[in-house]
Amino acid sequence: MNHFYLRNGQFFCEDTSIKEIAKKFGTPIYIYSKSAIQDNCRQFQRVFSGYPTEICYAVKANYNLSILKEIFSLGLGADVVSIGELERCLKVGLSGSKIVFSGVGKSHFEIERAIKLGVGTLNVESLSELSMIRKITEEHKIKVSINLRINPNIDVKTNPYIATGLYGTKFGIADEMVKEVLQTVKNHKFIKVEGLACHIGSQILELQRFAEAALRLRELGTDLKQMGYPISRLDLGGGLGISYNEKESVPSIEEYGQTLLNVLNTHSFKLFLEPGRSIIGNAGALVTEVIHLKQNRTRHFTIVDAAMNDLIRPCLYKAHHDIVPVEERDRSLILTDVVGPICETGDFLGLDRYLPESMAGDLLMIKTAGAYGSTMTSNYNTRPRVAEVLVSGQEVKLIRRRESLTELWQHEIF
Ligand code: LLP
Repeated sequence: MNHFYLRNGQFFCEDTSIKEIAKKFGTPIYIYSKSAIQDNCRQFQRVFSGYPTEICYAVKANYNLSILKEIFSLGLGADVVSIGELERCLKVGLSGSKIVFSGVGKSHFEIERAIKLGVGTLNVESLSELSMIRKITEEHKIKVSINLRINPNIDVKTNPYIATGLYGTKFGIADEMVKEVLQTVKNHKFIKVEGLACHIGSQILELQRFAEAALRLRELGTDLKQMGYPISRLDLGGGLGISYNEKESVPSIEEYGQTLLNVLNTHSFKLFLEPGRSIIGNAGALVTEVIHLKQNRTRHFTIVDAAMNDLIRPCLYKAHHDIVPVEERDRSLILTDVVGPICETGDFLGLDRYLPESMAGDLLMIKTAGAYGSTMTSNYNTRPRVAEVLVSGQEVKLIRRRESLTELWQHEIF
């Protein structure tokens, strides 16, 4: 079910008019639907209910505390990639044991703190990281459970910046090195290697690639088990793509689940998943106001108050987000570039869009902006970060207030 929809010619989020939200809280603004978040989480839980599975939400996709609280209250755990993300999870009451700590560059400080805070699992990505963990556990005499992240060399059709499963990337340990790495902690007093992990990339729409990754981990896990290593878990990461374009059809969570379960079904590994985008992507939108309209020699521009610092995906990955007027009006369609006020040609939210001709003051909604939207914002051009609200039915809760200008330079010294 789509929780952002047209009612009598006006876009609503659940039972709340988006125009009313913009009027009350200003623009640009991130708007999230609580029901959409719940639906996505429950869908994952339902699909994997017949198989021992831990669903660890990839916090990097959106880590607003209210959103985390909502997701964890449904029973999901977390996948984090920094001590900051880990502390966010603890702050909203998640137990350390429900957290997987991933990342290729965990520092000494981060590992030490994570272990002291009782993190459930560290996904280890190199021999160097493993020896750092060894020293820290020996020094503090604390036991940890780890997974080895494998680089399965699987090529996925996605933006190269977010394809992470190929040998040429910095991620994971190549299959052939796994045994050597394991040897260094065999029978270690404090480190228990309990599983294998991988994450082949993000916004992946080819289910076959997930099946290949699952098979690779399953086979390696079975081999290692036979060699006496207590491998009992497989963490398949995140990566399931979502629809950014109404016309495009994408695999459902159900189909994704069936794909993985077909590979794992008769095997006795506990499954870990780290979905980010598929939990929060379609649950959020960025609403912006048109400031100016402009025609130059060759192109028409709709200049809005949101910019690349508020949503960097179009500029960074050439990612497409549908853009629609918040209010339907009977106006002719015009080919336009939707751009922000930032002083860079790369500052666009959508190029070559057919939109009903706007007027200054109109509202536009950039859809499917819940994942990697607000978490990738910056203050570039000294622009305050925008407000965020969480909608539930007719209730609208401010979950991040708009930054003030003085907050932007409060840490600077002159
Ligand atoms: N697990 C690990 C180890 C990851 O690195 C990621 C994402 C995830 C899970 C979650 O993946 P998801 O289910 O969200 O695809 N900023 C980019 C996406 C970067 C993804 C990085 N890693 C974007 O806006 O498309």
